[in-house]
Amino acid sequence: MVTSSAPGKVYLFGEHAVVYGEPAVPCAIERRARVTATEREDGLRVHADDLKLDGFTVEYDGDGDARPDVEAERPLVEAAMGYVNEAVSQVREATDAPDAGFEIQIESDIPLGAGLGSSAAVVVAAIDAATRELGVSLSPREIADRAYRVESAVQDGQASRADTFCSAVGGAVRVEGDDCRTLDGIGNLPFVIGFDGGAGDTGALVAGVRRLRDEHDFAADTVSAIGDVVREGENVLGTDDYESLGELMNFNHGLLSALGVSSRSLDTMVWAARDAGAVGAKLTGAGGGGCIVALDESDDALTALKYTPGCEDAFRAELDTEGVRRE
Ligand code: MEV
Repeated sequence: MVTSSAPGKVYLFGEHAVVYGEPAVPCAIERRARVTATEREDGLRVHADDLKLDGFTVEYDGDGDARPDVEAERPLVEAAMGYVNEAVSQVREATDAPDAGFEIQIESDIPLGAGLGSSAAVVVAAIDAATRELGVSLSPREIADRAYRVESAVQDGQASRADTFCSAVGGAVRVEGDDCRTLDGIGNLPFVIGFDGGAGDTGALVAGVRRLRDEHDFAADTVSAIGDVVREGENVLGTDDYESLGELMNFNHGLLSALGVSSRSLDTMVWAARDAGAVGAKLTGAGGGGCIVALDESDDALTALKYTPGCEDAFRAELDTEGVRRE
């Protein structure tokens, strides 16, 4: 039995545009998914006690069809199972063990589908735990690559390497197409997270942006403009010029909003954080619901978010410099 964990992340800049080759800067945060893998005779059995769901157990039959034994949050459960199923396929390929079976236990303090990289963290931790269980140890970069293939398969080919690379290696990273690197010397950023209790459908949101970009030159320009914001942000990162960083986060949120991926509750939390003095605030991840990230050195934005109607949870998130690890 092997347990591995991997961190979630927030996007300082660049989600969605990164899918089209623009750069993005996700940052790993100290909230982790832990996956325990135990080899078993055949098939795949998955238990998840805390994915902000009611807890569920799923067993795959020979054809790989999921049979959730609880009805709660079915679409989310099925989405999670899709990721685990693909992750196990990658493990079988990487270990040259096409028939390996696993009992997989998932625990996570990253809300599912809320923009904090829960699926990437589960996939990265699952690949690490299950390969180690079979006596094979992959490098974080190889895990990132295999986890990217999982996200790509589940999201119909519409995924970037950003979430999975960030979760596998930790810290603040820069991703542009296949070029993935760690950003050194960033220091800790005063992140505050607001969570509306909801979730977005990443595949549908990414497809919506793609449609807009295909149909309208101004939407394609909006995607490129996000890339410009990221490039400008990179010059500020590593300095203590939080004002400029925050201004660029605000700009990034406006552009994402124009692309239709914000929501009323995300906008409400963004404005609550700004009104309380955060230097910048934006949605993080695919959007549609879920989390915002604000930059605030004081605790004012955190307190304001806690009293904002529609904000279910607010917390500080420290940068996590460690990626996937064996527990
Ligand atoms: C989702 O966390 C981030 C997106 O940019 C999709 C991706 O990069 O794969 C929306």
